[in-house]
Amino acid sequence: MIVVTGGAGFIGSNFVRDWLALNDESVINFDKLTYAGNLSNLASLEHDPRHIFVRGDICDTDRLSRLLAEYKPRAIVHFAAESHVDRSIHSPGEFIATNVNGTFSLLEAARAYWSGLSGERKADFRFLHISTDEVYGTLGPQDPPFHEMTPYAPNSPYSASKAASDHLVRAYFHTYAMPVLTTNCSNNYGPFHFPEKLIPLIISNARAGKALPVYGDGLQVRDWLYVGDHCSAIRRVLEAGCPGEVYNVGGWNEMTNLDVVYTLCDILDTLDPKASGSYREQIIHVQDRPGHDRRYAIDARKIERELGWKPAETFETGIRKTIQWYLDNQAWVRDVQSGDYLSWVQKNYAERNDTKGTTA
Ligand code: NAD
Ligand code: TYD
Repeated sequence: MIVVTGGAGFIGSNFVRDWLALNDESVINFDKLTYAGNLSNLASLEHDPRHIFVRGDICDTDRLSRLLAEYKPRAIVHFAAESHVDRSIHSPGEFIATNVNGTFSLLEAARAYWSGLSGERKADFRFLHISTDEVYGTLGPQDPPFHEMTPYAPNSPYSASKAASDHLVRAYFHTYAMPVLTTNCSNNYGPFHFPEKLIPLIISNARAGKALPVYGDGLQVRDWLYVGDHCSAIRRVLEAGCPGEVYNVGGWNEMTNLDVVYTLCDILDTLDPKASGSYREQIIHVQDRPGHDRRYAIDARKIERELGWKPAETFETGIRKTIQWYLDNQAWVRDVQSGDYLSWVQKNYAERNDTKGTTA
């Protein structure tokens, strides 16, 4: 079996569902269930004995050690993190606790467990760390995309905490020869994406008749990858990646935020038209994110060349599926938009009024 951390979040829950749909190996899903973790993401696995959910904090090394001793996994896939840049600006401490100290605790538990293995089980063990392209910092318009040797230059508390965790993972390979792998992926989108991130926020606000808040001029560029493609890349790296190596994962799909928002509005105009007018009329420009990275782009040639991985979806196909999923799963959206979500929206957007005074 394998252990997954953070498997109740957006990417982790997609990974767990896909994993169990594709093979019979059990998954121990270790998750603290923060505001971002949601067991309803895993409702389809409720009666599946191959999915074992354990609530816990990756900062708890003893708990993790007991878990590893009990289940004896052949691999750990580490998704658990605080993942939202805007939240990291408001509350950086939680990002250091989980992303840095938590990854360290998990590495220590994994090292003790792996050291006690022998023979093939020891050689075949893998620790796969899921990271982000944001560790590389920001690009100018003409710069080549990030590759695996691009120097780290993180700019937000989120990306700095992820960079620190990447360095720890790297050090465990070089110092202890622990068989670790790291993936650095671009922005994901798809089903079960928590509606505080750009794409699900725009879909949800559009349908609710609310303003669609674009930070600053909206000309910041991101590379977008459908979550199912990220999950297939992770499976491929786990299966065939070389220990100690880093693989950049991306969709070859750079877009400005404004173009993403226009695309969402235009597709919604056809799939779920308003009584009159276009969703584009709801777009407002609000105060920019402090330290906002201007452009991310990923050179994903290494994983393609060495492991034969390529994304299956284009942005056009993936975003249509995603919008349709949100239209078909409005109860899920309503359920996650309560409690903490409402106070977050208030905190993040209250001071970002546009020039006309409209509140996002
Ligand atoms: P998410 O915020 O949706 O989910 C994070 C999950 O981790 C939640 O289920 C949460 O409950 C759990 N968690 C948080 N703190 C924990 C702790 N201390 N102990 C145990 N569990 C804890 O995040 P996501 O978007 O699914 O991202 C997953 C991973 O992928 C993260 O490491 C993130 O940095 C990385 N990543 C995300 C993207 C993206 O676009 N979302 C892109 C590249 C890389
Ligand atoms: P986000 O989904 O938060 O991901 P990340 O910051 O990790 O890239 O944001 C994606 C882009 O969208 C980013 O450039 C910030 C921008 N953005 C907005 O313009 N408006 C919003 O309300 C949000 C949440 C993000």
